[in-house]
Amino acid sequence: MGDGRDFDLVLQGATGFTGRRAAAELAGVAPPGFRWAVAGRDRARVEALAAAHGVDAVVADGLDPAAVDRLAARARVVISCAGPFSRYGDALVAACARHHSHYADLTGELPWIRQLVDRHHQACTASGTALIPASGFDSVPSDLGVMALVESLPEAAAVTGFVQLRGGLNGGTLASGIHLHERWRPADFAHPHLLDPDPDAGLRRAPAAPERPPVFPVPALHGWAAPFLMAPVNERVVRRSAALRAEGGAGYGRGFRYDEHLLLHGRGRARFMALALRTVEGLLQRPAGRRLLRWLGPRPGRGPSERSIRRGFARLTLVAGDLRRPVAVRRWHWHGDPGNAITVRCLVQTGLALAAGEAARGGVLTPAAALGRRLLDRLAAAGAVTEIPADR
Ligand SMILES: NC(=O)c1ccc[n+]([C@@H]2O[C@H](COP(=O)([O-])OP(=O)(O)OC[C@H]3O[C@@H](n4cnc5c(N)ncnc54)[C@H](OP(=O)(O)O)[C@@H]3O)[C@@H](O)[C@H]2O)c1
Repeated sequence: MGDGRDFDLVLQGATGFTGRRAAAELAGVAPPGFRWAVAGRDRARVEALAAAHGVDAVVADGLDPAAVDRLAARARVVISCAGPFSRYGDALVAACARHHSHYADLTGELPWIRQLVDRHHQACTASGTALIPASGFDSVPSDLGVMALVESLPEAAAVTGFVQLRGGLNGGTLASGIHLHERWRPADFAHPHLLDPDPDAGLRRAPAAPERPPVFPVPALHGWAAPFLMAPVNERVVRRSAALRAEGGAGYGRGFRYDEHLLLHGRGRARFMALALRTVEGLLQRPAGRRLLRWLGPRPGRGPSERSIRRGFARLTLVAGDLRRPVAVRRWHWHGDPGNAITVRCLVQTGLALAAGEAARGGVLTPAAALGRRLLDRLAAAGAVTEIPADR
């Protein structure tokens, strides 16, 4: 695999909660002879982690442009768990673009992804360097699921996603949500086609989604829909996939739309979730509310217990066409806690796919636009996801 680089892959942010799990996952699944290293800002902790896995250590503070430049120059692929990404990621992504190192991370920070598109998409398209933000639970399952469903349809259709899940909250995820709202206003990421190459053209081509109330019955799935916290990210990533794939002639068709919801048993639970989400959003938008969430929630570096990570899951049901008369329904069961087990497998398999030269193109991409079917097959082979009959 040699091209003068020291490593096939470097994992940045390896000493954090998801980073440590990603290092352990890589140690288990990296192919023989794969040259990888762990990286982070704290020398002692990075070296201890590297020693535990028998790999090299790279010390690089995300806020030190020279250090991350050296890191990117040594790696064919960089995957990063160092978030909030809009705080620590700018210099690293720029260095990856400059050195033509493929890159993937776990960000769901929408306005930051838009900045990456504006800064790097053109140059990375030309150089064939794939930068793939949102390579965790947001937004790999939704993005690859929609791709697989749409590819199996005879003609374009609206797709609605329904997510059921069990999982815990990481301190790093809370910190990123708080940082997002400290830095941007909700209006800055409200555009439904924010990540499209040209957002307004996207809106003209395909209005975002049918107008639906926050809570509504879904008789075909024997449940009730409620707003889903990660839907704004997943929907915009899926729409970017549709737009990017259309450039290559493999778009999702003119009638394509995507919107995503939680699926719950009973109207009471759905109403409660809608209220809970409104409350959290209200708190995130106020300084005092953010202080309260920071005080109540887990600290950065912390996350759910091993037992809870093992018991977690996410189930994604995708319905094509009218909800009362669907033309197709497909369902995937993702194993383990969404923010940890699923996220880590998605990121690691994305990194391995990039290192194996599987990216279809360069640019600021999405999982479906960069790796498509190959990534879904990899994740299925790694035991991350199983497609199950839609009636189970
Ligand atoms: N997409 C998803 O579904 C998903 C799921 C889970 C997490 N995430 C995101 O992934 C990120 C990490 O989550 P987490 O739970 O692992 O958080 P975490 O435990 O707080 O880890 C944060 C990481 O960033 C590193 N870091 C902090 N400052 C840095 C700097 N100046 N330079 C370089 N690295 C620095 C930390 O290093 P130290 O160890 O030295 O503190 C740590 O490795 C968050 O942004 C979170 O939102 C996304």
